[in-house]
Amino acid sequence: MAAFGTVFMPKMSLAEYKDQRWDYQQLVNSDSLNLHPGAHVLHYASTCFEGLKAFRHDDGSVHIFRMDKNIARMAQSSRLLALPPIDVTLLRQMIIDVVTAFNDQVPAPPGSMYIRPTHIGTEPAIGKAAHPTNQSLLYVLLSPVGDYFSGGIKPLKLLVEDQGSRCAAHMGMIKSGGNYASALGPILQAREAFAADQVLFCPNGDVQETGAANFILIDGDEIITKDLDSSFLHGVTRDSILTLARDRGMTVSERPLSVEELIERAQKPQTEAALSGTAAVLTPVGSLVYQGRTINVGNGQGGPITEQLRNALNAIQWGQAEDTHGWLTRI
Ligand code: COI
Repeated sequence: MAAFGTVFMPKMSLAEYKDQRWDYQQLVNSDSLNLHPGAHVLHYASTCFEGLKAFRHDDGSVHIFRMDKNIARMAQSSRLLALPPIDVTLLRQMIIDVVTAFNDQVPAPPGSMYIRPTHIGTEPAIGKAAHPTNQSLLYVLLSPVGDYFSGGIKPLKLLVEDQGSRCAAHMGMIKSGGNYASALGPILQAREAFAADQVLFCPNGDVQETGAANFILIDGDEIITKDLDSSFLHGVTRDSILTLARDRGMTVSERPLSVEELIERAQKPQTEAALSGTAAVLTPVGSLVYQGRTINVGNGQGGPITEQLRNALNAIQWGQAEDTHGWLTRI
């Protein structure tokens, strides 16, 4: 199968913001954009995006998972980046239109159709470093996908970085390309030096998230994960997993988690850890590299609770369990 996110549907839905209003151009070719080289996004990184998925059920129907929550986050990211305001009704329609157009291309489980709404500042104005763009493009790309981590679900090795940050503290909750660019250097170094899969950013010893997914620790029937603040992404999958954990009677502790506590708890035999995200779903963490030492999380193989929570999420997404929280939108 092709690498995650490298195959695209030939059309995307697109809208342009100009003169204080949105103009919806419906479906256009997805192989290129006409952009001025002085476009605001190319110089001052005025861009944000979303990641959500559509799933095929056994009866052939197609369902989008938590669309409204992702749209709300996109509106928030756009506002925090001073991009033109998202029209949430329009974006909802754009997502539905493009998924409807490629309904027959949505893979059956375990695959899905990854949906990538993207918002970029297009005003040709290189003097506007300290001013917002007043023109933008909003488009929704589709990419049929399988597993995000190559090689399927296998326990990941994380480098625990207790000094450096993933991104600037006030930017973390924005789903913006700049945050991923900022995390890339440390990830490459961790791969090179420790054969780590990802970096767990813990600035000043505060456990936050990895470059592209949220982090949760599972100790017996308790899940511990950082409480929401502006410094990290408010994951929709994170929220879904915590909700499913509460449904199962688990204790969910959203609170600060220090590196010391993480390392101490990781060494208990029953402890599990996992990364959550639209792409990552819920992927087990097998080991942590901290201060040059490799420490297994629990037995180092991932564990039953991670698997149960992932299966519970997948079962709703794939229509094999009741959608009691109303997370699916049928197309
Ligand atoms: C997602 O999980 O949707 C993301 O945006 C992460 C990305 C690296 C694929």
